[in-house]
Amino acid sequence: MDQELSTIVTWILLLSNALVMGQEFTPRSYCTPEDSCWPTTDDFDELQSLNPSMEVITRGDGGWAEASNLVLNRRISETPGAVVYVRNSSHVQAVVKFSQDYNLNLKIISSGHEFIGRNIAPGCLLLSVAYMDEISTDLSCPEHSSGCMNVEPGGLVAAGVQSC
Ligand SMILES: *[C@@H]1O[C@H](CO)[C@@H](O)[C@H](O)[C@H]1NC(C)=O
Repeated sequence: MDQELSTIVTWILLLSNALVMGQEFTPRSYCTPEDSCWPTTDDFDELQSLNPSMEVITRGDGGWAEASNLVLNRRISETPGAVVYVRNSSHVQAVVKFSQDYNLNLKIISSGHEFIGRNIAPGCLLLSVAYMDEISTDLSCPEHSSGCMNVEPGGLVAAGVQSC
């Protein structure tokens, strides 16, 4: 009897474990342009008008051909649902919030060189930091005696340049 009970308990544990693991590994499903939950043109226009100096580009807009082709890794051929070029941290916040409000798959791209394609997904909202490319130096910063260099995520620093 005791052994039967422990066998039953073992099975219950194994099954509940499998259920929990199954849930953990179910990929989340996001809204894509094919779905009715995808933001309307008005929604994208509002995002744009609240943040004048960022650029929101959706399918059919001028610039879509270029914006939808930012991935330089030619092994990857996925098309985003919309692309946003941000210019400062307020824009980044607005785009992250927008992606949460509309359940969009937010992907972030800088130079486009990501080796295994984590910077894109079909129908994603693609946030490009390519224009956040400011590079500044401060030779009297307190952190390093030889000075500091601040590179925004879109900033390209040539190979061989030392950061401190
Ligand atoms: C970012 O740019 C917007 C204009 O699009 C401006 O209103 C906002 O103050 C800027 N934010 C920062 C942190 O510079």
